[in-house]
Amino acid sequence: MSSFKTLDDIGDVTGKRVLVRVDLNVPMSDGAVADDTRIRAAMPTIRELSDKGAIVLLLAHFGRPKGAKNPTQSLSLVIDGVADVLGHSVMFIPDCIGEGAQAGVAVLAPGDVAVLENTRFHAGEEKNDPAFADALAEIGDLYVNNAFSAAHRAHGSTEGIAHRLPAYAGRAMEAELKALDAALGNPAHPVAAVVGGAKVSSKIDVLKNLVGQVDHLIIGGGMANTFLAARGVDVGKSLCEHDLVDTANAIFDAADKAGCTIHLPYDVVVAKQFAPNPPTRTVNVHEVAADEMILDVGPAAVEALADVLKNCRTLVWNGPLGAFETPPFDTATVALAKTAAALTREGSLISVAGGGDTVAALNHAGVAQDFTFVSTAGGAFLEWMEGKPLPGVDALKA
Ligand code: 3PG
Repeated sequence: MSSFKTLDDIGDVTGKRVLVRVDLNVPMSDGAVADDTRIRAAMPTIRELSDKGAIVLLLAHFGRPKGAKNPTQSLSLVIDGVADVLGHSVMFIPDCIGEGAQAGVAVLAPGDVAVLENTRFHAGEEKNDPAFADALAEIGDLYVNNAFSAAHRAHGSTEGIAHRLPAYAGRAMEAELKALDAALGNPAHPVAAVVGGAKVSSKIDVLKNLVGQVDHLIIGGGMANTFLAARGVDVGKSLCEHDLVDTANAIFDAADKAGCTIHLPYDVVVAKQFAPNPPTRTVNVHEVAADEMILDVGPAAVEALADVLKNCRTLVWNGPLGAFETPPFDTATVALAKTAAALTREGSLISVAGGGDTVAALNHAGVAQDFTFVSTAGGAFLEWMEGKPLPGVDALKA
C-alpha cells in the first residue's frame, strides 16, 4: 500500500504541467453527461493541483474508437460536464500529443485546467507504444494516475507514461487502493463476498480467486442456478449454464479445501414469466416447477444471509442477488444491501462494493452512501476481484 507516491509526496507544483489520467468514460444522453459520478470522483485531485498552481492537463479515453478519430467519441462532448462539476471553465485541447497538444498547453497559466482529446484516437495508446508514451510525456512534467477504473489496461496513458515521468497516485486512486486493501489485501476476518449477476461464465475467475480469500461466499443472481443444478436441483426454466456444472463442482471442491463456506439460496421466488410484477411463488429450491424460473432469493435465505453478515467484519459485494431491475425481484438485493448498510453504520462491518450493476443496485436500495466504499470501476474492479495484477497500479509502484 505504501509502495507508491501520492499527492502528499509531489512537492511544489507551481507552474508545472501535471498530466492527470482520469476516467471520463461517462454515459451520455442527448449530447450531455448522463451520470457525472466519475467526474465528481476526479475533482478533489483536480482542485488540489489547480489550487497549488499546477497546470492541470486531463488525459482520458472515451469509448473505444480503436485508434481512429471519431467526432462522436471526442472528449469535447464532455467538457461542459467537467466545467459544471468544477464550477469554472475548462479548456479543450484537440490532441493529446504532438504540436496540437503543445500549442494548447503553451497558452495555459498556473491553476488552469484543460481536457486533452481522447487518448484512444491514437493507435499507440492501446498498444502501449513506447513512441506514443514518449510523446505524451513530452507535454508534461509530472504524471498523476487518478483512474483506477482504467488501471486494468496496460495503455500508454495508464502504464507507459508512468515510467517516463515522476508518477503519483491521485486522491481517488489512493482511496480506491486503500479500500481494496482493507477488503481483500489485508482484511479483518471473517470476510464475506456477495457475487451475483446472470452468468457464471463471466465470473469464473472471480469465484476461483475468492474461495481462497474469503470465509463466506454468497452466490446469487442467475449464476446461483448453475450451482444449484450442480447440487442436483431441478431449476426448471431458470437461466442456467448446464455446461458449467463441472466448473461449479470444481469451485465447490476448492472452497471445501480452503475452508470457505459457499451459501446458495434454499428458498427462492419463482415466476412463469419474466416481466414486472407477474404472479410469483416463494418455494423451497426443490419445489421449482418445470415451467417456472428462479428470479430472486427467498426471504428465509435472505434472513440467513443477514446472519452471516452480522458475524463478518468485512464484505466485498459484486452483482445483485436477483433480477433487481424488474420488480418485485429486487427484494432480496435491497434487503441484504440494507442489512450491510446498517452493519456498516454501526461500525461492525467494512463494506466495499463495485462493478457496473452493483452500484446501480445499491443506489436503487438507497444505501450506496452507507457503504464504506463504492468503487466507480467496472472491469478493473472485477479484475481486482480475480486477483489479477493491474498494470496501471503496478506502474505507480515501479
Ligand atoms: C470503464 O468504463 O470501465 C473504463 O473506463 C474502462 O473502459 P474500457 O473497458 O473501454 O477499457
